Amino acid sequence: MFQRLRALFGKAPATPLQTPDTDNIPQHIAIIMDGNGRWAKSRGLPRMAGHHSGMKAVKRITMAADRLGVKYLTLYAFSTENWKRPKAEVEFLMKLPQEFLAIELNELIEKNVQVRMMGYKEALPSHTLDAVEEAVRQTANNTGLVLNFALNYGSRKEMIEAVRQIGEAVQTGALNPQDIDESHMAGRLLSAGMPDPDLLIRTSGELRLSNFMLWQLAYSEMWFTDVYWPEFTDEHFYNAVREYQRRARRYGGV
Ligand code: IPE
Ligand code: IPE
Ligand code: MG
Repeated sequence: MFQRLRALFGKAPATPLQTPDTDNIPQHIAIIMDGNGRWAKSRGLPRMAGHHSGMKAVKRITMAADRLGVKYLTLYAFSTENWKRPKAEVEFLMKLPQEFLAIELNELIEKNVQVRMMGYKEALPSHTLDAVEEAVRQTANNTGLVLNFALNYGSRKEMIEAVRQIGEAVQTGALNPQDIDESHMAGRLLSAGMPDPDLLIRTSGELRLSNFMLWQLAYSEMWFTDVYWPEFTDEHFYNAVREYQRRARRYGGV
């Protein structure tokens, strides 16, 4: 039957997606969504077109993560260093959260997704922060996928803030320096309460962390691809998870 249809239409059927093993899905996946600008440039488009198209990839991969049963998806959307970019680009990027949420929030609510923000609120324009906080508020009781946006996030700042808080606790006598352990640090990071990422994905061919979750990624599996973020599909995402499933995580053991 299929052969006959194929003969009629002369087209090979699309190869089915190789879905990952459902038994070993990473609990927390973090993604450095990179390459929007280069994707646009390669098509003769302005960088902003790349950011816009990247927003569609956010939707696509959020839904894919939800289908797989991933518990936490952290997306690096804007770093504390990205303020260095031209003002027009920063302004454009700061409009994307509200645009994304205006289109997608209802479906995220329907899918029981919990939206969170991991980053510094102070420098964000109020229109950006209001949209994100509204989404966080409306989804706070949802129990499905946690969609964690790293927005105005920087890991060194995060660690400095944690160390400052620890210093203050020592100064007031609430904490004895001898008692400081990993939990004192982890509990004061912006990711407090979340497990460390099991899998880090970075698109666009760059092989660096760019100040992203330096503490939390200590034992994460890393997966890099040359694909630019706007063209990152379910298939790439599944390939990353399948590769993760083939890795042996030893944590220093044997
Ligand atoms: C990622 O794409 C989006 C953000 C960092 C906000 P880029 O804008 O960094 O794209 P490239 O790396 O210049 O291609
Ligand atoms: C990292 O990408 C930040 C985000 C993806 C939000 P960048 O494009 O800012 O990183 P560098 O400058 O290439 O290291
Ligand atoms: Mg980049």
